[in-house]
Amino acid sequence: MPETTNPSLSEETVRQALQQVKFPGYSRDIISFGLVKSIVIGGTNDVAVTLQVTTRDAAVPSQLERDVRAALAAQAGIGRVEVEVITAQPAAPAPAPGVGGSGQPSAPPRVPGVKRIVAVASGKGGVGKSTVAVNLACALDQLEQRVGVMDADIYGPSVPKMMGSARKPTITDDKLDPVDQFGLKVMSMALLLDENAPVIWRGPMIMKAIQQFSLAVNWGALDVLVVDLPPGTGDAQLSLTQTLALDGGVIVTTPQDVALDVARRGMAMFEKVNVPILGIIENMSYYVCPHCHERDEIFGHGGARREAERMAVPFLGEIPLVTGIRVGGDNGEPIVVADRDGDVARAYRACAQAVLNQLQS
Ligand SMILES: Nc1ncnc2c1ncn2[C@@H]1O[C@H](COP(=O)(O)OP(=O)(O)OP(=O)(O)O)[C@@H](O)[C@H]1O
Ligand SMILES: [Mg+2]
Repeated sequence: MPETTNPSLSEETVRQALQQVKFPGYSRDIISFGLVKSIVIGGTNDVAVTLQVTTRDAAVPSQLERDVRAALAAQAGIGRVEVEVITAQPAAPAPAPGVGGSGQPSAPPRVPGVKRIVAVASGKGGVGKSTVAVNLACALDQLEQRVGVMDADIYGPSVPKMMGSARKPTITDDKLDPVDQFGLKVMSMALLLDENAPVIWRGPMIMKAIQQFSLAVNWGALDVLVVDLPPGTGDAQLSLTQTLALDGGVIVTTPQDVALDVARRGMAMFEKVNVPILGIIENMSYYVCPHCHERDEIFGHGGARREAERMAVPFLGEIPLVTGIRVGGDNGEPIVVADRDGDVARAYRACAQAVLNQLQS
């Protein structure tokens, strides 16, 4: 008689073993990325696993196969293992009319109508990334650019609140119309969900959600789309870089060493997926007392500039720690709009100009 099936080997057990397999170079596992298409368990506990990956890196499929085999070999009670890795190139939407259409070979995937996509990232949360993204977008608008802001931070979307644009988007031709605010186009997952919903945006859904989300928006003609990425590990970044042709990444950091350390990781992440690093912005760089006008370098100003030099990436500018920045975020009117002629707006416009220079160079 054939060996009886070990009742303890369930699909769940296999899934748990596969959760140990990280996508090469990332801290997230292949289960939560939604890469495991099927798990078939045979009568003698033989296991066949099929993965589907979207990648341009030829080394990724074989690495994944090795890692899956190793993870399953470490799991007791599994018979023979078969691993199939189906690979696909990142989907390329039809190029937008008039954008990048000069007969250049192999145009990367593009969001229709959008000339440049710039992602704002940070290695960790709370450094003011969303605040920078929103104000940078408004500053680009003031530099005569047509600008959109896409909030890709599905865990903690904050762009609509900061932009005062919490209206539900309408739909035209099966696509979402972004909300118009201060002359910019704004789109956020938060606009589509009710308050308790973000909890469902986990693992496998993220890739699909961001993909559909970024491409299914009537952005119109934009010079720059600023994307606010979730902080940290790189899951949304990976999804985005597989979906969008990012023209560059901006890293936001505060000046302390610990923050710089994670900024370094952020840069490594962009490098890994071949997205040019446009540069570093130092947020909460210094504090000017509104009463005595004395300048205080609370976190040790200048760390980001030194780090940029060390990493040989551009330093884009510094933004002070100012109550008005926080108030602008809370009130839904970014300080760049609320106090257009102020020093802070000027500082953001300097960063925006530096970003444009990098995009052109
Ligand atoms: N330069 C600044 N001066 C004063 N307050 C600031 C400054 N930058 C950001 N803040 C405030 O710090 C808080 C965190 O900023 P923000 O939400 O932009 O950070 P984040 O990096 O996007 O955080 P998360 O990781 O939650 O997405 C907000 O209340 C914001 O108003
Ligand atoms: Mg944020």
